[in-house]
Amino acid sequence: IEECRKILKEEIKTFPDWPEKGVNFKDVQSILFNPELALVTSHYLQELLPKKDSNSFLFNKILCFDARGFLFGFDLAKASNTPMILARKHGKLPGEVVTQTFEKEYGLDEIQVQAGLINPGDKVLIHDDLLATGGTAGAAAEIILKCGAEIAGFNFIMDLSFLPGRKVLQKYVHDSKIQAL
Ligand code: PRP
Ligand code: HPA
Repeated sequence: IEECRKILKEEIKTFPDWPEKGVNFKDVQSILFNPELALVTSHYLQELLPKKDSNSFLFNKILCFDARGFLFGFDLAKASNTPMILARKHGKLPGEVVTQTFEKEYGLDEIQVQAGLINPGDKVLIHDDLLATGGTAGAAAEIILKCGAEIAGFNFIMDLSFLPGRKVLQKYVHDSKIQAL
């Protein structure tokens, strides 16, 4: 796993000063364009899944984000044989939805999950490609709590360590349950 981490750190492409000055944008496209790197990523994320023992997991559902969280989220859902739930941006989901508003860099944003998919007793793992301010993942955590379920942990490919994302999520789970490069 350390080997995977090293490869990913070296190979994921960063765009300095994009979309604005001072931001170093880590690009998931650079993983997807390289099939070998995509396999390494998939393997790495699977290794990080919280496990009870070698063939059972400490979560029973996986919640993934619109849009880049869907790319490897589906992979993890298949690997762990757990139901995958889509957290989508406003107005994309049919039927009754659970909504959470959160702070983005510029103003407010909203994520939604179809009602009835998360229930009391569930242990839900949250996956996204990247942890930045933690606004998005924190909103997912709030949705899980609103539904009366438990947060099993957070699983990201990358994180921007100079932003407070990790701190924000520590109010939901112990630091060891926040996995990122
Ligand atoms: C990016 C990224 C995460 C989120 C992280 O998505 O994929 O979902 O931002 O930022 P945060 O920790 O500050 O909330 P974006 O909203 O750009 O949408 P996309 O996946 O549709 O490109
Ligand atoms: N990369 C990808 N998505 C992002 C980033 C980043 O550096 N910052 C906020 N969303």
